[in-house]
Amino acid sequence: MASLDSVARTVLRRRYLRRDETGEVVETPDELFHRVAADLASAEAAFGGDVDATEARFHEVMAERLFLPNSPTLMNAGTDLQQLAACFVLPVEDSIESIFEALSQTACIHQSGGGTGFSFSKLRPEGDVVGKTGGVASGPVSFMQIFDSATEQIKQGGRRRGANMGVLHVSHPDVETFVSAKGEADVLRNFNLSVATDAAFWDAIDAGEPYDLVNPRTDEIVRQVDPEALLELVAEMAWETGDPGVLFLDTIEAANPTPQLGHIEATNPCGEVPLLPYEACVLGSVNLAAHVDGETVDWDRLRETVHLGVRVLDDAIERSTFPVPEIAERVAETRKVGVGVMGFHDLLVDLRVPYGSPAAVEVAEAVMRFVHDEAWAASRQLAEERGPFPAWESSVHETPVRNATTTTVAPTGTISLLAGCSAGIEPIYNVAYTKHVLGGLEIRNDRFVDMVEARGLDAEVLLEDLHDRTTIQDVESIPDDVKRLFQTAHDLPPRQHLAVQAAFQRHTDNAVSKTVNLPASASVADVESVFRTARELDLKGVTVFRSGASTGQVLGEAPRR
Ligand code: CDP
Repeated sequence: MASLDSVARTVLRRRYLRRDETGEVVETPDELFHRVAADLASAEAAFGGDVDATEARFHEVMAERLFLPNSPTLMNAGTDLQQLAACFVLPVEDSIESIFEALSQTACIHQSGGGTGFSFSKLRPEGDVVGKTGGVASGPVSFMQIFDSATEQIKQGGRRRGANMGVLHVSHPDVETFVSAKGEADVLRNFNLSVATDAAFWDAIDAGEPYDLVNPRTDEIVRQVDPEALLELVAEMAWETGDPGVLFLDTIEAANPTPQLGHIEATNPCGEVPLLPYEACVLGSVNLAAHVDGETVDWDRLRETVHLGVRVLDDAIERSTFPVPEIAERVAETRKVGVGVMGFHDLLVDLRVPYGSPAAVEVAEAVMRFVHDEAWAASRQLAEERGPFPAWESSVHETPVRNATTTTVAPTGTISLLAGCSAGIEPIYNVAYTKHVLGGLEIRNDRFVDMVEARGLDAEVLLEDLHDRTTIQDVESIPDDVKRLFQTAHDLPPRQHLAVQAAFQRHTDNAVSKTVNLPASASVADVESVFRTARELDLKGVTVFRSGASTGQVLGEAPRR
């Protein structure tokens, strides 16, 4: 097994390694990878596969940190809690029964380590009539607070914070309340918010026409608003708090691989997986930083890892149990998996390509196109061995494939720490910093250390000075070419964040987790312009974070989706 750094060891010990009833850790990191590999590979038996050989290959790809499945798989595979998916979407209908059913399902999913997304768009607006009681309705935002409190009480499997995505359609009469909900401190702490827009909304903006807000219970137009002013309110709140993000539902629906099964109205908590109601998705990420040969991408190795990754995730679906029968049924029909990438910035450093350059967008495009093509080749091969996913015939896929989707770019908030690489496709935040989780983790960029040492600089002294700094561009002692390779999220212009996100999205079935960072000095109009550009680039969603905004965002410092 490749050696683990101290951050990875700490994270594994605190969150992932099995413990006995007294709380003592009872497995080593290598035993963890063996446990997961053995459990997943046991799925091969039903298809006449070679269980032992597959187990060895799964173990190797994880132990070498070439590919890691999402946290619930690492935590739960081969344990009593055999729930392996990170992402869920639950339906919420306009009735007390449905709301509280979703609430109890949410509790079960959080307990098993999954995150939940919901569209609250079907709930009648605040002040509407409640027939049964003759009372007045409290509206979606008020019900979301119940989900929030429940989440607060149930930490995920006792090991991580529960996370939710709350979506509301922009035509809902409570849209302004929803959009402004996180303006107050400590409200909806366990939610990310996304306002769902569609073509009708953007067309109204382009045409300079009023936009209808509609009561979902009666389909009646309640009032008309200036869509431009509404977009400005969204931008204002995102400027202030980072929430809400914007979803482009029409773009999402256009990529729905199984439209006959229903429409997509919501995503998982960090936005990278749009799902049908009751769907779940198992994710896993390829560590790009471990697929470099000298100063080029090791394409052969990457191909092998992607093929193995799809197999790992398809076996994970086979092995996973789900806390709600409807979810088990839906997952069995579509078998969505999400192979993604992490360590993209590290890869760029190894290729000597600055994140802020046009060449970085070309690398993004080339790498993700390759991952996507190979993931589909792997899914086609699995379909030959095991049959296509049951809803395949009525899906948009022309050739038989095993999975309705194969690719997703996840945030990899924790698994990138285990792999020791930069998170997802994000640029780095700092070259050395304290991550305020698990009692504080000291993170330093090894590539930076190696490079400055090779230039004869004292890395220790330098890192002390650079600790927690969000840019190194003003440090005179660092050579310019090094500075260019270690541009941080804060150094990069929003258009570059968007260009990289768009390049990945062009070759990703699901969505791409990415935060567009803005300087503290950015204006509300700048935020609005990011939203418009995101739409022009055919993104499925967009999240901004302005330096110094009062973060109410779930999952960490600034970046999340
Ligand atoms: O790195 P890891 O596998 O732990 O997760 P991630 O890539 O940062 O997040 C992937 C997805 O896991 C998120 O979009 C959520 O759906 C879910 N998640 C969650 O439910 N709770 C958390 N505390 C972190 C992630």
